[in-house]
Amino acid sequence: MIKVLGIAGSPRQNGNTALLLQEALRGAEESGAVTEKIILCKRNINPCTACGGCSKTGKCVIGDAMDQLYKKTLAAHGIIISAPIYFNSVNAQTKAFIDRFQCIWERKYSLHEDLTDPNIRPARRGLFLSVAGLDDPRSFDGAIKVMDMFFNLIDIKYYGRLFFFKMNGKGAVQKHPTALNDAYMAGKQLVDEISRYDVESMAIK
Ligand SMILES: Cc1cc2nc3c(=O)[nH]c(=O)nc-3n(C[C@H](O)[C@H](O)[C@H](O)COP(=O)(O)O)c2cc1C
Repeated sequence: MIKVLGIAGSPRQNGNTALLLQEALRGAEESGAVTEKIILCKRNINPCTACGGCSKTGKCVIGDAMDQLYKKTLAAHGIIISAPIYFNSVNAQTKAFIDRFQCIWERKYSLHEDLTDPNIRPARRGLFLSVAGLDDPRSFDGAIKVMDMFFNLIDIKYYGRLFFFKMNGKGAVQKHPTALNDAYMAGKQLVDEISRYDVESMAIK
C-alpha cells in the first residue's frame, strides 16, 4: 500500500495552497494511495532553538508534535508539501517544521545513519505546491532552495513543483482555469511514479 503524507503549511484554512493540497491528495487516492494530511498550524510545533542537543544523539530534545511527524515523514512513499510564499520563502510554520529536521540532518550527515527503509528509498517521491501573490515568478526562487535541501535530506531525490503566482485572495486558485486540475493530476502522477516500483522487492515493474 502506497502511503502519501500531505503537509499543509499555510495558516489560512481553505486558502490557495490548502485547496491545491486537497486536490493533489484526491489525485493520489485516485491512483490507489492511502493519504494523510497534517495541518501544521493545528499541531504543536516549536521552532528549533539551536541547543545542539541533537548533534551527538540525533534526537530532538524539544518533545512536541514533531516526534510523530519525523516518523511519518521518513516512512511515507510520497510527501506533498503545500506552502504559500511569504517574503520570498516558505511561510513560518512550514519553515519551523523544516528547521526541526536539524536532528535528522545530524543523524544522516554526522552520525551516518540510514534514515529510510532501503526497500522504499528509491521509490520515494515528493511534490511541492506553492502560491505567491505578486505578479513575479521569481517569488519562488528562495522557496525552491529550501525545498531542494529538505527533500534531499529526507531521501527524496525527485520532486515535482507546481506554482501559481499573482494569486492573493483566499481561494483565488479556484478562479484559475487549470490550477485545481493541475494539482489533482500532479498528485495522481506522484503515485503513478511510485507505483512503478515494487516497494517490497524493489524490482521495477
Ligand atoms: C506575511 C505575508 C507575506 C507574503 N509575502 C509574499 C511574497 O514575498 N511574495 C509574494 O508573491 N506573495 C507574498 N504573500 C502573498 C501570499 O503568498 C498569497 O496571498 C498566497 O495566495 C497565500 O496562500 P494561502 O492562501 O495558501 O495562504 C505574502 C502574504 C503574507 C500574509
